[in-house]
Amino acid sequence: MSNHSPHPLKRSLKVIVILALAIWGICILWQHRHGIVPPKLTPEQVSETNTRIAPVGAVYAGVAGEAQAQAAATAMAAAAMASSKGPAYDGTLDGGVIYGKLCKTCHETGTSGAPMLDHAHWDARLAQGKDTLYMHAIEGFTGSSGAMPAKGGNSALTDEQIHAAVDWMTSNLH
Ligand code: HEC
Repeated sequence: MSNHSPHPLKRSLKVIVILALAIWGICILWQHRHGIVPPKLTPEQVSETNTRIAPVGAVYAGVAGEAQAQAAATAMAAAAMASSKGPAYDGTLDGGVIYGKLCKTCHETGTSGAPMLDHAHWDARLAQGKDTLYMHAIEGFTGSSGAMPAKGGNSALTDEQIHAAVDWMTSNLH
């Protein structure tokens, strides 16, 4: 066998590749001729299909799907808002009301070491600065006299509501 003539196996490989490409090309031509390649969908058809499959898989694809996914997320957030209790005590920012509904249970009587509203109990605490008091009331704080639970134990209170309650307490010392 001459060194220049290709190995018979190589030659038949070449033939196979060329044939495969030709067949592939013919297939594509044939599909186009016979309309087997699906026509482009109208946006209405796309969204109809998305609506049909959405509840099952909640899979959103394409631009229309993106918009739908966003709508679904918004709806879920709205539902969550509606079903949750919302901020505590109707979201009041009246520190006296919040104190009366919750903080008072410990701070009026000194239950479990809570400082009662008098200067003897508060002057040293006030010296720490308001920000520290806010932080301890929001995050909770264990000191030398006992344990202040985070937000007095009601996590539905917003930080602003806690600020209001602390402000009310520190301006009502006797
Ligand atoms: C379950 C009892 C309890 C309730 C309810 C409670 N506290 Fe307290 N609180 C404590 C105790 C105990 C301390 C003292 C911790 C220490 O210094 O050892 C404290 C301390 C504090 C301090 C001082 C923190 C510091 O750095 O000295 C603030 C401010 C405070 N509470 C705010 C509030 C507010 C506002 C509420 C209501 C939203 C509230 N507390 C409800 C028990 C309570």
